[in-house]
Amino acid sequence: MTLRALHDAARRTLDPVHYDYVAGGAAEERVLSANERAFDRCLLLPRVLCGSETRDTTACLPGAQRAAPVIVAPTAFHRLMHPDGEGATARAAAAEGAVLVTGTAATTAVDAVVAAAREAAPDPAVWFQLYLHPRAEVTETLVRRAERAGCTALVVTVDSAVFGRHTRDLRHGFTELPPGHAAENMRDLPGAPPGSLTDIPMSAAPTWRDFGEIPRMTALPVLVKGVLHPADARLAVEHGASGVIVSNHGGRQCDAVPAALDCLPAVAEAVAGRIPVLMDGGVRRGSDIAVALALGATAVGVGRPVMWGLAADGEAGVRAVLATLRDEYDHTLALCGGRHNADLTRDMVVRGGETW
Ligand code: FNR
Repeated sequence: MTLRALHDAARRTLDPVHYDYVAGGAAEERVLSANERAFDRCLLLPRVLCGSETRDTTACLPGAQRAAPVIVAPTAFHRLMHPDGEGATARAAAAEGAVLVTGTAATTAVDAVVAAAREAAPDPAVWFQLYLHPRAEVTETLVRRAERAGCTALVVTVDSAVFGRHTRDLRHGFTELPPGHAAENMRDLPGAPPGSLTDIPMSAAPTWRDFGEIPRMTALPVLVKGVLHPADARLAVEHGASGVIVSNHGGRQCDAVPAALDCLPAVAEAVAGRIPVLMDGGVRRGSDIAVALALGATAVGVGRPVMWGLAADGEAGVRAVLATLRDEYDHTLALCGGRHNADLTRDMVVRGGETW
């Protein structure tokens, strides 16, 4: 099944309120559409007579030595998509050799997510995403839970100083999880009632110094997610980050920022190879992965496509999404004369006019 077919099947299956929760973005959804359009504008300029029968598309990532170049970006509330929830996503990602980023807003606790991943692969890479809570002890509790569960890296999301204004959710009045669902990682955290969409621990006030406490409190590599400005990418390196994820939260936060892809080259330049740079937002086909890797990403994340796969066909649907993207990417790499991801270079991406 193509990603488009999985999306259409998910749309037919889901409660329209839950469909809109995933599909939607902030405000006028300008950034949501810009993320995909940025890829439509980029074309590949292949090299010829330099290819190879076999290709190695694995990426070396923090806490994941030989990972698929596509990772599962952190998305909330998988049980709204399918009763098997994050467990199904975890088994699928592990079986496909892809890093799964599970998060604070998961409807399955992190230890159960890692256990599910281990059912599908002996040594899966599961990363845990969190926000910097105003109370440092809440942040630290989450870090310890992720460590105990067996996560191999942490992802600190920094683009959510305040909760995004999601137009479709506001229209539907969607502010509470349905009965029986909860943000399970928030259980027993001081002062955080599980179940409310707006009570995921976030803070408008954290600083780079607060971020820097996280790599100091754990031996796990810590990535920072939601960087768009190259100066912040440099600060991330200086404060001990093991990776930077260029992301505008899939167009769900500020609706006046550039497409994530358009911010990637300057961030990659600022980081200058000191730590891996990843990006997410608008990746929908294998050639999108090739474009992002050519522009300096070590790997890309996908958010909504995984949710559509999960809603359409549970674990098998998520596997189909990840396998399709990997196969399309491998095919594109072959057509561009590449053997390794690093064979894709910036000179191989050209911007095409939309009228071509
Ligand atoms: C997200 N995203 C997100 N990011 C994060 O750091 N913590 C979170 O809890 C969530 N939750 C979430 C829910 C839903 C429904 C979506 C669609 C997205 C953002 C996500 O990690 C990623 O940045 C984007 O989804 C990438 O864009 P695409 O692939 O959806 O276009």
